[in-house]
Amino acid sequence: MTPDHDGVGAEGIDWDVHYSAVEQVWSGNPNGVLVAEISDATPGTAVDVGCGEGADAIWLAHRKWDVTAFDVSAVALARAAEYVEKAGVTVQLLHGGLLDLVAPGGRLLFVHHDHSDPEPARHAGFDPADYVMPYDVDDALAELPDAWEVQACENRPRNVTTGAGAGHSVDVVLRARRTNSPT
Ligand SMILES: C[S@@+](CC[C@H](N)C(=O)[O-])C[C@H]1O[C@@H](n2cnc3c(N)ncnc32)[C@H](O)[C@@H]1O
Repeated sequence: MTPDHDGVGAEGIDWDVHYSAVEQVWSGNPNGVLVAEISDATPGTAVDVGCGEGADAIWLAHRKWDVTAFDVSAVALARAAEYVEKAGVTVQLLHGGLLDLVAPGGRLLFVHHDHSDPEPARHAGFDPADYVMPYDVDDALAELPDAWEVQACENRPRNVTTGAGAGHSVDVVLRARRTNSPT
């Protein structure tokens, strides 16, 4: 499948540079939190925001989810398209960012590495304060109590031994369910 491309800004270009540095950035395995939280869920419609090289989207599609996957990086999407084809599954791949996404109904599962000590991240060249984190989204959803039910927002240990995420030992996990349209 060829990804759809429309204009994304500097954020996409930054991520393109990141992805272009190596042939494969991530392990190719689905995120452990996704597997833990969603293995028992009845397949439906899933939107993978920031799908990267597509491992999560492919895992979902294998389990009969109808998956749309977004990323700001065209380089990552091209890889995701290749892996989707090799896996023999169907995923709708779109080039775009989180703010382009509107998802009435459904669940939001947002996983980020814990950066409560920002120094290692700053040493690696970025400042976590520049990024939206699960706790920021939790605060924003608290302003919309009739529209979202936050089911979890917490730190969890992770054990990943391969790929670029192997150095992280704690994830921040936000799990929420859209209960209504915002008023
Ligand atoms: C930490 S990587 C995770 C990739 C993939 N989900 C995985 O677990 O292997 C974050 C991804 O989010 C993408 N991204 C960053 N900002 C984004 C935004 N505003 N909207 C959509 N994707 C974004 C990046 O290009 C990158 O692929």
